[in-house]
Amino acid sequence: MKVFITQEIPEIASKLLKAKNIEVSVYPKNKPISKNELLKSIKNVDAVISLLTDKFDAIILDKMSNCKVIANYAVGFNNIDIKHAKQKGITVTNTPDVLTDATADLAIALTLACARRFVEGVELVHLKKFNGWLPKLLLGVELKNKVFGILGAGRIGTATAIRAKSFGTKIIYFSNSRNLFLENKIAAKKVSLEFLLKHSDIISVHLPLNPKTFHLLDKKKLLLLKEKAIFINTARGDIVDEKALINILKRGKIFAAGLDVYENEPVLNPDLYKLKNVVLLPHLGSATIDARNNMAILAAKNVIAVLSGKKPITPVN
Ligand code: DGY
Repeated sequence: MKVFITQEIPEIASKLLKAKNIEVSVYPKNKPISKNELLKSIKNVDAVISLLTDKFDAIILDKMSNCKVIANYAVGFNNIDIKHAKQKGITVTNTPDVLTDATADLAIALTLACARRFVEGVELVHLKKFNGWLPKLLLGVELKNKVFGILGAGRIGTATAIRAKSFGTKIIYFSNSRNLFLENKIAAKKVSLEFLLKHSDIISVHLPLNPKTFHLLDKKKLLLLKEKAIFINTARGDIVDEKALINILKRGKIFAAGLDVYENEPVLNPDLYKLKNVVLLPHLGSATIDARNNMAILAAKNVIAVLSGKKPITPVN
């Protein structure tokens, strides 16, 4: 059996696979694999461990005649045509749970960075422009008693809500189904999307990207945001109409945005660089040593399960 890993991930994945006599090859370059290189590398393999940057569309999937499983090294799987994979008999798996805390931590870090204007402060010090304490220097906003709106109350949304509550915020959430855990534990209230956008002081996006959520936050919806709102996205860039978001940021319609994800990742809209009221990160949601190790273990275990005829641990199709 052969597995192709599209990028170097923690060594533990290869160790687990090799221990089961599975041959492992890894894409050697330290950048996302190109479509042509991917096509060449996946032809005769039994399994692939893929990244969220690898697009597995029908063209690619049709070339994977031996492949039984694609284990995506991410919780999101919008990079894979899962319906087509299913038709081809390819199981697709992801890495939920193991990155929940890391991503929720980052959502809160972005919230605080926006609320307390970290980036502007750091820049000021580095530019040697800190000339002494001033009553009006970089005034931010406090979280206590603010309304924290969770858009998508799945695992990461739930973990973010729990953290946000500890700052004294009131939690409201928008989700397809009720989250009784959040309702019982921290008195969170389920509301409509429009209500959440109109009434939240902080909006944190935790939805999966799919045709229903693509540009869910379009110009019309973004115009509902409160004047001093803080907008956080650690989910997927395409859920938001980035141009419309930039527009309201430019006009100072909201306080700030903290973004870990972008519509055309890794290409950023050049206007984003010009804005003062943004905190921009390079998709670091799951970027902790613990989360990435556990993601590697889970991806490898999913491959091993499928190749040995067992049920995968975390299938998505
Ligand atoms: C994922 O796993 O989908 C996250 O975006 C990683 O940060």
